[in-house]
Amino acid sequence: MPIAVFDSGVGGLTVLRALAQHFPREDFLYLGDTARLPYGNKSPVTIRQYVEQNIRFLLGRRVKAIVVACNSASSVLDPSVKAPVPIYNVITPGARLAVTQSNTGKIGVIATRTTVAQQAYVRAIAAVNPNAQVVQQACPLLVPLVEEGWVDDPLTNLVIHRYLNPLKEAGIDTLIMGCTHYPVLKEPMSRVMGKGVVLVDSGEAIAQQIQTDMSAKQLLANPLGQGRLDLLSTDLAENFRLMAERILHPLSAASFNHVDI
Ligand code: DGL
Repeated sequence: MPIAVFDSGVGGLTVLRALAQHFPREDFLYLGDTARLPYGNKSPVTIRQYVEQNIRFLLGRRVKAIVVACNSASSVLDPSVKAPVPIYNVITPGARLAVTQSNTGKIGVIATRTTVAQQAYVRAIAAVNPNAQVVQQACPLLVPLVEEGWVDDPLTNLVIHRYLNPLKEAGIDTLIMGCTHYPVLKEPMSRVMGKGVVLVDSGEAIAQQIQTDMSAKQLLANPLGQGRLDLLSTDLAENFRLMAERILHPLSAASFNHVDI
């Protein structure tokens, strides 16, 4: 059975790529809810409805776990929600990894407006290190720039500078890229933050969490899997396929299909 990964759009493919590279024998089913993107500036009530619908849809596809790759969706996820398979959010592992990476306890978080407003990372970091100092910055312009494919672009670099400079001045030593789209911009972000700041990728963090759960047999590994990646999107946009090919490189998808949820 595959592991499902869902996001509001193409951004979660950064999480899928990290997972597929860590678990080359696992099969994955990816759902990009491109018809309802963006999630990150919608209200928690609306996002929660989308999340519940996506989870119900994926459970109907017989998957062995669901990774809520979208940080905005993870930030409104009810942790007590009961499901027949494990449901992973990206915030808890991302916060844990940031705390272990940080020497000074000064941690920056960049995310969508909803994730920032929900204080999801602030709470998750405090649960691991109550003395940590967290500086948050909402970066609403970055998602459309990535969706547009403007990755290596002077305008995007300017926007990154504008958002990250206050975090740099605040003296953080660790920066959580708290949105699935941001790892696509990891290089220009690292250039702005400089060598002394570690960038934490939620895809890497959730891969470590799943590795731990597989070792503890809380999630069964699939030794006979083919490493198949099947992609679904709720909108037919050709842009999804182009961005998927670009983000997944050097991996590639076995299929692209449109679904109604
Ligand atoms: N995938 C979302 C996240 O990680 C960002 C895109 C959106 O706003 O839907 O927060």
